[in-house]
Amino acid sequence: GHSLSVLNYKGDLLPLFPLESIHRLEHFVFRDDDILISAYPKSGTHWVWEMVRMLKTGQTDGLPLVEKDDYMIELDVTDIATMPSPRILTTHVLFRQLPGLRSSKCKIIFINRNPRDVAVSFYNHHVKLKDYYHYDGSWEDYFHLFLHGQVDYGSWFDYTRDWERVLPENPHVDVLTVFYEDMKENPAAEVTRISQFLGLNHERAFIQSVCDKCDFASMRQRKGKLDATSDGEPIMYRKGEVGDWQNWFTAEQVALMDEVCKSKMANSAFKFRYE
Ligand code: A3P
Repeated sequence: GHSLSVLNYKGDLLPLFPLESIHRLEHFVFRDDDILISAYPKSGTHWVWEMVRMLKTGQTDGLPLVEKDDYMIELDVTDIATMPSPRILTTHVLFRQLPGLRSSKCKIIFINRNPRDVAVSFYNHHVKLKDYYHYDGSWEDYFHLFLHGQVDYGSWFDYTRDWERVLPENPHVDVLTVFYEDMKENPAAEVTRISQFLGLNHERAFIQSVCDKCDFASMRQRKGKLDATSDGEPIMYRKGEVGDWQNWFTAEQVALMDEVCKSKMANSAFKFRYE
């Protein structure tokens, strides 16, 4: 069948991007004032990064479109080691791939999103990034790759389970969990939570302007051209909705995913809304 081109790094699947610093993750040293945004791909990483950047700088206007820290630490196209504090870092790797986190005081924002929407979003991502993934299969084929974790960063289920397991085992690790669906439903409440978690005390008007500037349409318009396909289709800003899975999933796929969810996520505390 069809498969994706991915890198098997010591048993973990990673994208074939120039992952210059993947071998350095094991020794990555976090600073106490780092903010690490951690999420399975397509969960809203770019969105939260933009919110955090505005909250930290206290500015919603005049910020450069991207900064050198707009990168995953596994990509590290710039030298993260010399980046001034506070660094806003992002990653899709597992907690165990970053041993430095165990003794770190940095703040982690963990983003979670309904796996049905993640699957659809990741499929579109893989199709659009043809030069890296060489994927030419259908959604139907892809659905099975996703369910079996044959994609970069592996199985969504294993990833999510792993984070859930790690948190109580490392109680000193400072983590805030946010849900994509909650951010869509009530952005002001979630931006306020993030702001408070970061120890910031912003006024309501500022929080509202962060929500407006980070709204999907606004971000797509401002940043969509940064990475687009040759036809100008933004890659990171596709639809930005809850429940797009309904336009893709067959009844059979819903049933199959439910089955996998039931076995893989048994007793999980995470509750997903599937509307
Ligand atoms: P869709 O493909 O469902 O549209 P990541 O940044 O982790 O790669 O996640 C990308 C997903 O988040 C895409 O989902 C993208 O459209 C969505 N997204 C990006 N910015 C957003 C925003 N400001 N508001 C809501 N969703 C956003």
